[in-house]
Amino acid sequence: MSTSQSGIFALGTASHAYLEFDLLSGQDGLALVRAIAALREPRTTMGGVNLVVGFRPELWGQVADDGPADVAGFNEDLIGRDGFVMPATQHDAVLWLSGSAYDVIFDMAYEAIAELDGLGSVAEETSSWPYRHDRDLTGFIDGSENPSLIDAPDVALIPEGSPGAGGSILLLQKWVHDAVAWGSLPDSRQQEVIGRTKLDSVELEDKAPESHVARTDQERFGKIFRRNMPYGTVMDHGTMFVGFSAEQRRLAAMLQSMAGVTDGVRDALTRCTRALTGAYYFVPSTESLRRIDSPAG
Ligand code: HEM
Repeated sequence: MSTSQSGIFALGTASHAYLEFDLLSGQDGLALVRAIAALREPRTTMGGVNLVVGFRPELWGQVADDGPADVAGFNEDLIGRDGFVMPATQHDAVLWLSGSAYDVIFDMAYEAIAELDGLGSVAEETSSWPYRHDRDLTGFIDGSENPSLIDAPDVALIPEGSPGAGGSILLLQKWVHDAVAWGSLPDSRQQEVIGRTKLDSVELEDKAPESHVARTDQERFGKIFRRNMPYGTVMDHGTMFVGFSAEQRRLAAMLQSMAGVTDGVRDALTRCTRALTGAYYFVPSTESLRRIDSPAG
């Protein structure tokens, strides 16, 4: 029986940080992976931190023999319709910290960066916070079609008996919003773009094929578990897309559909939002992490 990293499913946390690392040139990939696998959250029952760690799939494949088959990094830009591009900004490892307040996140992130000093450097850092309880910065409720926590492990985790069991594939993608363009749309048009009502997230009966929920329809592409969060400042903000799946192809197919690669229909949401980053990480089970941290144990 494999155990997932529990932070994947730790809902209700008000403060988040995402740190993406590059292996320093000349350094050993295994040493970086081991150092990350050895990180532990502060031992406290109150004000704790959920730590989730992931690795570039090819890096995990080099250092461990228990990774999933056929999983690859976000190694090439995804070129969509009408010049729309989702850039590939793959890094070697990711730490996602979440907790009740930013002070504990800050302290732990600071310590983790110090622990990894000399092995890996921070290439991307984003912190995020909830907006009006459960909305993203478009003002819509985000996560309505997520599985419940009872069902989420089936959706997000590689099943027992398969390579990488208990692990998950994470797509981490930072999307900046064109707040002026979005804000200039009346609510009725915003609802058409998303495919749901703004106030209470009811799915529209007659949603357009280019609406966001039509482009990412889970009945078609398979189910994923999203932990998206708002990020940024008043002048420069957006959505940190944090999507977990047992299979990479579900996530990749959704991106292709959003970009209009398959049928020429581009997600209307991409007219007002733009991906700044894009990376896939393998998030190993806790047993895999312990094995790589102390191979003899
Ligand atoms: C700017 C970036 C994004 C924003 C603001 C956004 C926002 C939303 C909102 C408001 C909904 C409707 C409520 C819900 O079911 O959660 C939704 C649904 C969904 N989104 Fe996104 N999203 C973004 C990017 C993405 C990306 C990159 C993917 C996939 C790789 C994705 C996958 C989904 C899925 C699977 C659903 C549910 C579809 C269904 O009804 O089956 N989203 N999103």
